[in-house]
Amino acid sequence: MAGKIIKAPRGTQDILGTDSYKWQFVERLALENAGLFGFSEMRTPTFEQMDLFKRSVGDTTDVVQKEMYEVRAEKGKDLYGLKPEGTAGAVRSAIENNLLKGALPLKVCYVTPCFRHERPQAGRLREFHQFGVEMFGAQSPSADVEVICVARELFQMIGLKQVMLNINSIGCPTCRAEYHKALTEYFRQYQDKLCTTCLERLDKNPMRILDCKSTVCSEIAKGAPVVLDYLCDDCKEHFEGVKKRLDALGIEYKIDPTIVRGLDYYTKTVFEFISGDLGAQATVCGGGRYDGLVKQMGGDPTPALGFAVGLERLLLIMEAQGIEIPKPETCELFIASMGEAANIKACELTNALRSEGFYAECDLMNRSVKAQMKYANKIGAKYTMVLGDSELESGIAKLKEMETGTEREVDFRADLAQALYDITIERATEDLAEEFGGEALASAMGMKR
Ligand code: HAM
Repeated sequence: MAGKIIKAPRGTQDILGTDSYKWQFVERLALENAGLFGFSEMRTPTFEQMDLFKRSVGDTTDVVQKEMYEVRAEKGKDLYGLKPEGTAGAVRSAIENNLLKGALPLKVCYVTPCFRHERPQAGRLREFHQFGVEMFGAQSPSADVEVICVARELFQMIGLKQVMLNINSIGCPTCRAEYHKALTEYFRQYQDKLCTTCLERLDKNPMRILDCKSTVCSEIAKGAPVVLDYLCDDCKEHFEGVKKRLDALGIEYKIDPTIVRGLDYYTKTVFEFISGDLGAQATVCGGGRYDGLVKQMGGDPTPALGFAVGLERLLLIMEAQGIEIPKPETCELFIASMGEAANIKACELTNALRSEGFYAECDLMNRSVKAQMKYANKIGAKYTMVLGDSELESGIAKLKEMETGTEREVDFRADLAQALYDITIERATEDLAEEFGGEALASAMGMKR
């Protein structure tokens, strides 16, 4: 009896060969762009001690309270969590590997899968991917602006349109104390309406009520006092410094006093990039300062900041805006064969072509030549060549251009890679000549027409 087909878990997705080139494209661009700002890639584990997330992201956040995937290898042994975001691991690693004792600012970046048990919808998954950067050691507002620039530059390189930068300051523990008092007073009036989680948060961490996803709580939250009205002088000055630099660099932004972010570690500047092409999940990038986190996690006091871009959301916007991603190269040459000896020759030639950097294939299925040609067509091979007894004897085979059907003879005992290279160049030059100047360009390039 055939087994039941097992499906992927809800809220996850397979990235197939037809799409993986898009991921490679954005990931490469993101890492290369961050590299220009001095960020180097860091890779941290997919799971960490549960306590790491409780102490950093915060045990009264939705992410930790409601959305964590817990992992226990053996009953009664340590509890781990699948990472819901990249910052906690990066901070742990920077402290554990003594990176903060080296040159500062330390700039790291990453591409990582993240896991949150949320209700799946467009742009919201249970396993998703983040590209993020973290900078340690810099407290100047210039650092905030540099980090914002990394994200902005990436969006510009990709060609995204209408991605709006929204910023806010959520102050430091000093100004937060006053603000918490005001929030508690405000929410206390609605305590019979708040969800049970928020009721608990009322005393422990009232700011978390502001990003509760329940409709009742979020409606009540709309009338709550805003943190910008409670900033201490130091936080005000820092925020002014950030705005002044954004203005000087001509970076457009909006101040959105309702941004509080859903993670506990933030201090001072917080920001989000919002796109109108994402529906309800409009935030493609979120970040900010977390000046207290390194100390809280056992390191020396070190200001820090960063952001993360949701790669699924980024790709959704690109698709909505019709941004083309260069397709990967298709097969340059498929060498079909008839009979054992020809098949061995085909294997030998394809291998030699690959070591010269060509994408080449040959028959691995003992198919008829007709079926081999059908396969070559399916994979979009640009050229094909058929080897049989007579070709093996003469050393000459017909190279067929699949698009036009044009055939030419090549001596495959000589340098096949060079022949293929010459043909490719010749073909590309012809295409250019056709596009840009016909005869004139062709003759200038010394081509026979
Ligand atoms: P976050 O705002 O929780 O921040 O997530 C960053 C980005 O990840 C979001 O803007 C969104 O694009 C994407 N994202 C979050 N949840 C999901 C989901 N369920 N499905 C798809 N995409 C999602 C952080 O994670 C911080 N660690 C960012 C940071 C780095 N702050 C400082 N440094």
